[in-house]
Amino acid sequence: MKESKNFETRAVRIQSERTSFREHSAPLYLTSSFVFESADQARALFADEEEGNIYTRFSNPNNSEFIEKLCALEGAEDGFATSSGMAAMFISMAALLKAGDHVLASRSVFGSTHQILNTLFPRFNISHSYADVDKPEAWEALIQPNTKMIFVETPSNPALDIIDLEWLGKLAAKHKLILNVDNCFATPYLQNPIKWGAHLVTHSATKFIDGQGRVIGGAVVGSKDLIKEVRFFARHTGPSLSPFNAWVLSKSLETLAVRMEKHCANALELAKKLEGHPAIAYVKYPFLNSHPQHELAKKQMRLGGALVTFELKAGLSGGQKFLNSLKMLSHTANLGDTRTIATHPASTTHSKLKEEERLAVGITPGLIRVSVGLEHLDDILADILQAIEKV
Ligand SMILES: Cc1ncc(COP(=O)(O)O)c(C=O)c1O
Repeated sequence: MKESKNFETRAVRIQSERTSFREHSAPLYLTSSFVFESADQARALFADEEEGNIYTRFSNPNNSEFIEKLCALEGAEDGFATSSGMAAMFISMAALLKAGDHVLASRSVFGSTHQILNTLFPRFNISHSYADVDKPEAWEALIQPNTKMIFVETPSNPALDIIDLEWLGKLAAKHKLILNVDNCFATPYLQNPIKWGAHLVTHSATKFIDGQGRVIGGAVVGSKDLIKEVRFFARHTGPSLSPFNAWVLSKSLETLAVRMEKHCANALELAKKLEGHPAIAYVKYPFLNSHPQHELAKKQMRLGGALVTFELKAGLSGGQKFLNSLKMLSHTANLGDTRTIATHPASTTHSKLKEEERLAVGITPGLIRVSVGLEHLDDILADILQAIEKV
C-alpha cells in the first residue's frame, strides 16, 4: 500500500518495519544509540557503505518513518526531521549558504525567519533582500549575482496573500536558484510546492501536522542532493527531532487529510458568515470569491486553509477589546490546533514594528487572525459574534 498514489492511504500505511513482536501500530524507539553486530558493520555504517541507524542525533526509526511519510505526501525524494519548525528553516538555509551569498525572501515570512535573515545571517556575511508578495513584477530585479536561494511562505502570515508557485518555480529555474517554501500554513494536503518547482519544502510540524497543540517539531524535505547537505549539517550540529515527537507527528499525519477537510470547511463557512458584518471592514480567506488572488489560490491549493482574517472597524483598541471578550476561543501564541485560536497581530506579535512596517505586510490596526479549529461551527461563530458585539 506504500505504492498507493492516494494521500490518505500513504499517510496511514507508510510505517516502520514490523518487529518480531508483530505489533500493529509502530512502536516508540526511545534509544540514544544502536548496537553494532560486528566491528565490520560499525566500520561500514560510519563509512556510509551500509545504511542503518548509529545514533539518534543522526537517525532513528521513528524519525525515519515520519520523514518517509512526509516525503511521500510532499512528493520529495528525501528529508530530515528537526526539533522545531525554526530548526528546519535555519538548517534549510545555513546548510546550503556560505559567506557572501544572498537570499531573496518574501517580506511576509514568520517573525523568527526574519530574525535569522536580519540579525543572525549578517554575522556570517549572508545578506538578503525582501520582495513584496503583492508586487511579483519587482522580484526579478532583486536577484543579484550572489543570490543563491529564494525563501517564501504562501499563504502569507497573517495577510493570507498568495504567491504564484508556478511563476516562482520558473523564476528560480531561470536564475538557477534554490526555491525553499515554508509550507506550514497549507500542509502537504492542500499544497505541494515541489510540483511547481520548489527544491526544498520546510515545515513547522508544530502546527497542523501535529494539529492538537502537543509537540514542537519540524522538517525539511526536498531533492536528494540538497538533503544530503542538510543531513550533513544537522548530523554535526544536532537539531534533530526527538523520537517521541516523531512518533506523535507520524501518527498525526494519519489523520491530516480528515482534519484539514474539516478545518477548511469550518474556515470557509466562518469567512462567508462574517463577510458583510457591519463592524467588519473586510474578511480575507483564499477561497472567498472576494480574495484578490482567489483564482490563483484555487489553482495551487486543494482547499483554502484554516486561517481566516478580518479587520475590525474599531481598530487597535477594538482588536484588544475583541480578544478580552472571547469566551471559548483561545488566545495563545500558536495556530493549527483542534481548538480555535484568535490573535491580534498589531498589539502582540507585530507590536514592535512601526505602523508603516505593519501595513507593508498587511497588518492593519484591527486585524484579527483566526486559526479555525474543529469545534462545531455554530459555537465558533457565536463566540466571535458576541465578542464583536462588545467591541
Ligand atoms: C509559518 C511558520 N513558519 C515557522 C514557524 C516556526 O515553527 P516552530 O514554532 O515549530 O519552531 C511558525 C510558527 O511558529 C510558522 O507559523
